Amino acid sequence: MAALAVVPGAASAADADALAVHDYLLSCGGCHGLDGAGSARVPSLRGIDHLLARPGGRAYVLRVPGVASAPLPDVRLAALLDWIFVNFQNRTAAAFRASEVAAARATPLVDPKAARAALERPPG
Ligand code: HEC
Repeated sequence: MAALAVVPGAASAADADALAVHDYLLSCGGCHGLDGAGSARVPSLRGIDHLLARPGGRAYVLRVPGVASAPLPDVRLAALLDWIFVNFQNRTAAAFRASEVAAARATPLVDPKAARAALERPPG
């Protein structure tokens, strides 16, 4: 289990992981599923790390309505997203910073599906 950034209220990396699990279950799991696999109407959170490599990908993830409006402070949301990318993607932490989260979530996407489609289009 990768160490996460220090989160207020979490005394250790293990505590931070437990807090991220808690936050995921309460804020995201009801829609995206306990294992992040999603459903017919909600996208899976597994295998989306390629989005981060695209221009605008990080902002897209932060501005998607379920993320931008999550009832969590920026630092907890940053830690939760890192936990998702480590545990559901089995790759690397996305290393979100609270300041990056704060800036992006201030303007939630009005049309997330169009934004997602634009991300998938090759540049040019
Ligand atoms: C009310 C249900 C709901 C909740 C709660 C929710 N989401 Fe979502 N999420 C969606 C739907 C539906 C989409 C597809 C885009 C859209 O219509 O908003 C989505 C899209 C996403 C995407 C983009 C996936 C892609 O492939 O484009 C990410 C990342 C994401 N959500 C993460 C989260 C996280 C993290 C949380 C918790 C903080 C969360 N969501 C809470 C329903 C939800």
